[in-house]
Amino acid sequence: MSEKIIDGKAIAEKVREEVRLGVAQMQQEHNYVPGLATVLVGEDTASATYVRSKQRTCEQLGIRSLGYHLPADTTQEALEQLVAELNANPEVDGILVQLPLPKHLNEEAVLNKIDLAKDVDGFHPVNIGRLAMKGRDPLFIPCTPAGCMRLLEETGVNLKGAEAVVLGRSNIVGLPMAMLLQKADATVTICHSRTKDLKAHLQRADVLIAAVGRTEMVTGDMLKPGVVVIDVGINQKDDPTAKRGYRLVGDVDFESAKEVAGAITPVPGGVGPMTIAMLMANTLRAAEIGLSKK
Ligand code: GUN
Repeated sequence: MSEKIIDGKAIAEKVREEVRLGVAQMQQEHNYVPGLATVLVGEDTASATYVRSKQRTCEQLGIRSLGYHLPADTTQEALEQLVAELNANPEVDGILVQLPLPKHLNEEAVLNKIDLAKDVDGFHPVNIGRLAMKGRDPLFIPCTPAGCMRLLEETGVNLKGAEAVVLGRSNIVGLPMAMLLQKADATVTICHSRTKDLKAHLQRADVLIAAVGRTEMVTGDMLKPGVVVIDVGINQKDDPTAKRGYRLVGDVDFESAKEVAGAITPVPGGVGPMTIAMLMANTLRAAEIGLSKK
């Protein structure tokens, strides 16, 4: 791979190795193994795949994984009761409720109930609020945005005073991403599906984080030469030559963008592997916070 292509797989492995070492050290010095509880509600296949992958990575790094799978018709009360039990369980350092939840459940109320010190997804409103405020720091940073920041850091991007465009405004990626870039002294513009003249904004951007969920929406001709592109999108594109009839592509047209960009993440193999690696790092941090209180 040329240096222009940001190798998310290699950088994620580096993060996992750091966590593996941290876990081993904790076990040696404190005779303690970090634990992550995953909560999956219902039968969504993509969510089930993500959760399995999170559990498998825990096992690979020496983190204890506790899996909870509730039926699709679980009540709000039952889900909140489980969160309360996990909050009280001293063997659980991190709690991850896989999103999206089935429609009848109130996501906000569930996330509000997670102990701040166990909020390894960083989705608790207090953690998000601290991320937004000057001079405050959250206990945990949401995993995908944290992974994007690590990719920028490993690529050697100087964010101070840089023009950054975040395309997308989801609670999970776009919003926290914009706040992190702002904390890192970038000048941040948030664009989204209703932005009138996206190209005009992109022409100024030194950094682009694309997280809008639209297949290859950004093309090379829209970009400023030298821009660093982090593509969070994972979209299915019809491809009769592929075994499944489709292939995965990002929110950015990779082929045209790589001719203009200074550096760019591929899809797959860019941001994707970073999310779980950062979750593991957050879980180790949660265990460190837990130990400091014991
Ligand atoms: N659904 C999609 N991404 C995520 C994530 O990072 N955490 C959780 N809990 N659910 C998700």
